[in-house]
Amino acid sequence: MYRIVYISTPKPDIGPADVAGILETGRKNNIRNEITGLLVQDSRRFLQYLEGEQDAVETTFARISCDNRHLAIIPLKMGLIGRRQFPDWAMASRLVGINNSLENTVAELVKNCDHDVAIELLDFAKARDRAA
Ligand SMILES: Cc1cc2nc3c(=O)[nH]c(=O)nc-3n(C[C@H](O)[C@H](O)[C@H](O)COP(=O)(O)O)c2cc1C
Repeated sequence: MYRIVYISTPKPDIGPADVAGILETGRKNNIRNEITGLLVQDSRRFLQYLEGEQDAVETTFARISCDNRHLAIIPLKMGLIGRRQFPDWAMASRLVGINNSLENTVAELVKNCDHDVAIELLDFAKARDRAA
């Protein structure tokens, strides 16, 4: 099992309708490609985690990287993991509430993950909260 975690800063004109479209297309493709994961959005950025067979994840990430809705996209982590962490979620999505932190939002999502994967995602979220 292979995973990629990245951060994306979307272009300023990307709104809720665009995000709905991204989720719809993404979920459809991810089901077909046996990819699962998360897309968490705060007021400025997306944090996405994708997992599946290495080929499928890399092909999907290559397609996402070319998407012109990003202003910038930064891979944070990629490589093998022991098992699928989010078997039920083609792409779980959360919008971080105005009074909430990315860390709290991610913490809700990683409850059933292996400890090392949970810590990794929480550390990325914490770093983002500090930078926000
Ligand atoms: C922040 C963000 C996250 C995305 N996540 C996914 C994803 O998980 N899976 C996916 O197939 N496409 C995702 N996309 C969309 C891809 O960039 C691309 O538009 C899409 O895969 C093209 O699919 P199509 O050829 O079926 O139209 C994402 C786009 C953005 C901007």
